[in-house]
Amino acid sequence: MTILVTGAAGFIGSHLVQLLLSETSESIVGIDNFNDYYDPQLKRANVRLFENQPRVKLVEADFCQQETVDSLFETYRFDHVIHLGAYAGVRVSVETPHIYQQVNVGGTLVLLEAARKRPVRRFLIASSSTVYGTGAAIPFAEDAPLGIPASPYGATKRAAELLGLTYHQLHQVPVVCLRPFSVYGPRLRPDLALTIFTKAIYSGNEVRLFGDGSVRRDFTHVSDICRGLVAALNAPHAVGEAINLGHSQPIEMRQLIELLSQSLGRPAKINYQPARSEDLPITYANLEKAQRILGYHPEIPIDQGIQEYCDWFRQH
Ligand SMILES: NC(=O)c1ccc[n+]([C@@H]2O[C@H](COP(=O)([O-])OP(=O)(O)OC[C@H]3O[C@@H](n4cnc5c(N)ncnc54)[C@H](O)[C@@H]3O)[C@@H](O)[C@H]2O)c1
Repeated sequence: MTILVTGAAGFIGSHLVQLLLSETSESIVGIDNFNDYYDPQLKRANVRLFENQPRVKLVEADFCQQETVDSLFETYRFDHVIHLGAYAGVRVSVETPHIYQQVNVGGTLVLLEAARKRPVRRFLIASSSTVYGTGAAIPFAEDAPLGIPASPYGATKRAAELLGLTYHQLHQVPVVCLRPFSVYGPRLRPDLALTIFTKAIYSGNEVRLFGDGSVRRDFTHVSDICRGLVAALNAPHAVGEAINLGHSQPIEMRQLIELLSQSLGRPAKINYQPARSEDLPITYANLEKAQRILGYHPEIPIDQGIQEYCDWFRQH
């Protein structure tokens, strides 16, 4: 069996390829264009962890190109698709929304079209907790009414979900939408607040905190997310569903800074900045559906995960 992983050089994608290598016997084709949304050298370093494995084939290409993607589907006859590739930054999407629309919506449509022509057993789409938007009831439950996404990023993730669910209904593409919540762990993206805070505390600089620190995020360890994705490949009742992958224990950003400070053994000097409207006040996953359909139970407590992350950060 062969599995296509888009965004394989990214933070979550590179962890997922490692998990697939250890937990499955599938051949893996990873596609990534190593774009410069953040330093492509970090992505090159991620793929060095597995690029020489005989079961892995890495393709440096853009999944927005229909011909390229069709020819990959033709060559490899994928059994499974895990679509992680995206522009993933909330803040940047406010400034440059078009690239988010092109890649997150247009690129998803290209992959769905390829899967319509060459059917697959399962097509996972990485959505996001940002689809819940402003006004959704807390904790976020998949089958309750959604709010309005607070950022173009969130809107493109919702659009990608809808395209996937339409392709399931119209063309029987076996789509499952997974909604990860604030993912963290070794090799974390450099544009995320958790990385920026860690760098600032470690180097004795001010931590720029937007708002008063009461914003709450449901930080979820990347290993839990990857196990949830792998479970969604085979779970019998997952197709056509949107499913949360979270931790269900949100913490305030000021608590996160405190945890980082303790784990790094250095004080944090906070420089408070005005709140930003693209930030939801809270993300909080209801995990009842993930538990029922995927048998998903997050395992890594936040203090353990942050300590592990800080240890990794110090070494790199
Ligand atoms: N990290 C989080 O907290 C989080 C939370 C919710 C959802 N997600 C979703 O999970 C997925 C992975 O996120 P991540 O944090 O690993 O991001 P990432 O930016 O590290 O990984 C995305 C990868 O996709 C690649 N890519 C982008 N456009 C491409 C294109 N046109 N062709 C080929 N490759 C392309 C990038 O080069 C990158 O390596 C994304 O879909 C993101 O929206 C992430």
